[in-house]
Amino acid sequence: MRILDIGCGPGTITADLAALVPQGHVTGLDQAPDVLELARATAAERGVSNVSFAVGDVHALDYADGAFDVVHTHQVLQHITDPVQALREMRRVTAPGGLVAAREADFPASAWYPEDVQGLPEWRDLYVQVARANGGEPAAGRRLHVWARQAGFDPARVATSASTMCYSGPAQREWWGGLWADRIRVPPFSQLAVEGGHASAEDLERAAAAWRAWANEEDAWFVIMHGEILCRMP
Ligand SMILES: C[S@@+](CC[C@H](N)C(=O)[O-])C[C@H]1O[C@@H](n2cnc3c(N)ncnc32)[C@H](O)[C@@H]1O
Repeated sequence: MRILDIGCGPGTITADLAALVPQGHVTGLDQAPDVLELARATAAERGVSNVSFAVGDVHALDYADGAFDVVHTHQVLQHITDPVQALREMRRVTAPGGLVAAREADFPASAWYPEDVQGLPEWRDLYVQVARANGGEPAAGRRLHVWARQAGFDPARVATSASTMCYSGPAQREWWGGLWADRIRVPPFSQLAVEGGHASAEDLERAAAAWRAWANEEDAWFVIMHGEILCRMP
């Protein structure tokens, strides 16, 4: 079993995959060399040795046709400029009978409680706007199957599904709310938002305050939807 995990980031999923195939090998690929140091540390901590890591761009993979049995990506296609080309490449490097798998968030389909937290709808709209202006597609989840068809996969061999991540309870509220309150106010998001004319510094402060207000609600609850595809190669 040869597995390629594209956009592996800190490598937590890469290490999970490696543990599932002790006789096989997993390659974690990312375009950011720095994050691969984290990924190597994750693999070492978990005691998995059947992994290796490489720098690369999903738009132009440096692997032979059919080099892998499974090609996987998680939360990457939403950030890149040409997800169809990425899936074309993922398809090319997958062996006959193999699998291509992807899971991507769909931010406009987020839901939360309390529904009346001031500023959260504005945060969602701003995030969608800035991500699109940056060449990404924050509603990637609902488009995965379309991109797969455009990349040449036979729709009859593409299984679609959706799942959610749900954040509630003190620890998750603090982590998820804090993550967004911080992320909004620092580059690259703040820079893209302000320089792109999508928001003022005050708008960003208001969005960060909305996240802190959400996190302080005892009953706070947030769900983010993800689309999934599992494409079977003929
Ligand atoms: C949101 S992280 C996801 C990390 C990991 N897959 C996970 O779910 O935990 C996105 C990762 O994709 C990488 N990435 C972005 N564009 C890429 C590209 N064109 N080719 C390869 N990796 C890319 C980023 O460097 C980042 O590490």
